[in-house]
Amino acid sequence: MRTTLIVGTYLLASALFILGLKGLTHPRTAVRGNLLGALGMFLAVVVTLVDRRIVDWTVILAGLVVGSALGAIVATKIQMTAMPQLVALFNGLGGAASVLVAGAALMGFGLSEKSLALQYAAASAVAGLIGAVTFWGSLVAFGKLQVLIPERAMSFTGQRVFNAVLAVLALGLGAALIVSPESSGTWYWALVGVATVLGVSLVMPIGGADMPVVIALLNSYSGLAAAATGFVLMNNVLIIAGALVGASGLILTRIMCQAMNRSLTAVLFGGAGPPTEMKMTADEVYGGKVKSATPDEVALLFDGARRVVMVPGYGMAVAQAQHAVAELADWLEARGIEVEYAIHPVAGRMPGHMNVLLAEADIPYEKLKDLDTINPTFEQTDVVLVNGANDIVNPLARTDSSSIIAGMPILDVDKARTVVVVKRSLAPGFAGIPNPLFAADNTLMMFGDGKKMVLELIAALKST
Ligand code: TAP
Repeated sequence: MRTTLIVGTYLLASALFILGLKGLTHPRTAVRGNLLGALGMFLAVVVTLVDRRIVDWTVILAGLVVGSALGAIVATKIQMTAMPQLVALFNGLGGAASVLVAGAALMGFGLSEKSLALQYAAASAVAGLIGAVTFWGSLVAFGKLQVLIPERAMSFTGQRVFNAVLAVLALGLGAALIVSPESSGTWYWALVGVATVLGVSLVMPIGGADMPVVIALLNSYSGLAAAATGFVLMNNVLIIAGALVGASGLILTRIMCQAMNRSLTAVLFGGAGPPTEMKMTADEVYGGKVKSATPDEVALLFDGARRVVMVPGYGMAVAQAQHAVAELADWLEARGIEVEYAIHPVAGRMPGHMNVLLAEADIPYEKLKDLDTINPTFEQTDVVLVNGANDIVNPLARTDSSSIIAGMPILDVDKARTVVVVKRSLAPGFAGIPNPLFAADNTLMMFGDGKKMVLELIAALKST
């Protein structure tokens, strides 16, 4: 009876995870999806506590208090723009938990049993290997994004061979763990040691725009490590939840690779990425060609306009301009002008960054158009207002095969009648390259902070 209740609750929790993920696929159902997932996790935790022999409640309660306090502080303090490094840290902690739990279970098991069942030994080896790679790889990713260590790709000659040797060594230690259970603890911690060096060495050579892809991949690894730990503990809900994280991380990795026109092999083994030699310097691209305009001048462009597209980018997040942009859109729509938002999959600094920002300003989701939907419409667009975006609208991706962003799908805003770009200077974006869009004949630069300039534009429109 007790077992049936426990297994049944685990099944219910797993179903809630899946329904939660389904809910997260659309903003309208996302909040409910989140709540369903949280309810599933709550049930899983409660049942696990009831099911297992609890060694010491005080340790669990102390962990709960410390963990909740840290979580609350981080959640309230963290800037939206620092989300990728926070996610990296969370992934890493998931990996570390798998290493420790599988290690503790294995050592307890090894002491009491002469021979380890193949499943426990193999699952422990997988959890230790993937968990340690995830933890140390994520720490390196965190350090790079937080600029605690240099952001650029760092590698040495023969690094791929070095990594291959480490991988073979780790597999050998895993095999030793399976065939000689009497010293499984020693083999396990040696395996974790090798995986630690491998994790650092795998992520060090990755840098720049490839970092977000690696974080999505490490997220997937943390799920796989958790699923392997589930096999060690024979805990169904951990196996299912880990597999869900593993699969969704892989899907996200694929989407991001496509959005940046990078193959996963190129991200993992391609070092710094495509050639970075620039054909033209910023002076050559911009020299004497950039036209700037004041909000009063830009306001005149909307006279007789029928269609306007807003293009949010990282700078809009920095400026927190989403409410001002929504106010501008309301004003234009009230005058019969059609307004839509062009969302690039890697705009900003994390997947879905722009969607979250615009949702904060209650912009209807139907108005947010993805790259494939919006691109064919730019030729019929009177004004495009680019706010704090740079790389995602850089035509060099289409025209310069030697550029670091060559082949990356971009928003073709340069095809619109007039493009207004709001940013503070001609400084480059994340990719560090000049943008010929700023010097194009149909572009006007409105130099200044993303929020301040939009508010001034609204004031100018209201006064005309
Ligand atoms: P970026 O190319 O990084 O350009 C952002 C621009 O915002 C900068 O050129 C900056 O110019 C401007 N800016 C900064 N603060 C501003 C402010 N207060 N007001 C107005 N403008 C401001 O951004 P993007 O076009 O969104 O492209 C995203 C880039 O990040 C891509 O290269 C992508 O690969 C990379 N990336 C994406 C992700 C994900 S998953 N989204 C994660 C990591 C990296 P000024 O300094 O002149 O103002």
